[in-house]
Amino acid sequence: MKIGIPAETRPGETRVAATPETVKKMSAGGNQVLVQAGAGQRASYTDEAYAAAGATVVSDAAQVYGQAELILKVQAPDAGELPQLRPGQILLGMLNPFDADGLEKLAATGVTGFALEAAPRITRAQSLDVLSSQANIAGYKAVIVAADHYGRFMPMLMTAAGTVKAARVVVLGAGVAGLQAIATAKRLGAVVEASDVRPAAKEQIESLGAKFIDVPFETDEEREIAQGTGGYARPMPAAWMARQAALVAERCKQADIVITTALIPGRPAPVLVSEETVAGMKPGSVIVDLAVERGGNCPLSRPDEVVDANGVKIVGYTNLAARVATDASALYARNLLDFMKLVVAKDGALDIQREDEIVAACMVCDAQRVLRSR
Ligand code: NAI
Repeated sequence: MKIGIPAETRPGETRVAATPETVKKMSAGGNQVLVQAGAGQRASYTDEAYAAAGATVVSDAAQVYGQAELILKVQAPDAGELPQLRPGQILLGMLNPFDADGLEKLAATGVTGFALEAAPRITRAQSLDVLSSQANIAGYKAVIVAADHYGRFMPMLMTAAGTVKAARVVVLGAGVAGLQAIATAKRLGAVVEASDVRPAAKEQIESLGAKFIDVPFETDEEREIAQGTGGYARPMPAAWMARQAALVAERCKQADIVITTALIPGRPAPVLVSEETVAGMKPGSVIVDLAVERGGNCPLSRPDEVVDANGVKIVGYTNLAARVATDASALYARNLLDFMKLVVAKDGALDIQREDEIVAACMVCDAQRVLRSR
């Protein structure tokens, strides 16, 4: 099998879909690996390292797309990349399974596309779960970014010049990103509290040493919806959201840093920190909105901007994982390598295990058709 790794072209994308470590494993498995020169540069992986791992480094993307039978990508192909794809090619990447328009365009190229974000949340899929590997990094970086924008210390300090209070951090949404944000903020010495709709999150929040912001359920319907589906949250009834908003507003007033990570698959992000809540926050406090690309958990956040709302800084950086490019690529590349076992046989021959539930869930287009509408 000829496997190709083009350089990513989207602005701000620093990650790469294979590292020398995964190239070495692919080469050892009898595959020929083509890497576009400079593909790993922004993630600190050199062409020399890829070559030493067994890759053939080629000068441009046209050679990768022209020769490879299987393409490994981070982002879904853009308008410049789509025409380079060929019928029958296999494409693995984060292909945006909810973007119906994008999938139509991808299907039209004739590639067989696998969107790894669509993998089911079963134990066997954990090692190829790209949402988890990247959200974990985003959660960590959110706290580092917040600390950078915050004009005070995170830990409590007793100095000769007086005592400094620990920062109060509120984390909204305690999934993969939120839990890592809690752990990172705790390591920096902050006092942390967190909220989530899923009842299972309470124990996880508390086990990290943070306080759970409890919004008690008042009806069986609320309790039932809060369980979510397949590990993901569902939109909560308006009455629960209103009670949560009141509690969140109160906690945010006391907070120095608010990290929001709440998402519902295939829908706009729920609004958790309203304009009114921001107006009640202390000057100098910082909000980092990880949900900004999906509309934001705070209506004032703007993609890739730092908005100043009466002294409250609202950071809307998209793609935080790309700001930790080396490790984000390393983990992502391992996710892809693991998924490849389901489409490439040990001897390097194409062997798509179509009956496998992970393969079936991730295959978004084949033979010029979009396979799943989500
Ligand atoms: P996500 O990125 O879709 O959402 C982030 C968090 O926002 C979730 O915890 C969700 O419950 C929360 N949320 C949604 N609406 C909210 C609201 N109104 N208020 C507060 N919080 C709200 O979810 P993520 O992080 O990808 O995964 C969620 C959970 O799935 C994880 O904590 C984990 O338990 C589970 N999981 C299981 C896996 C497996 O078994 N293979 C792999 C990865 C995650």
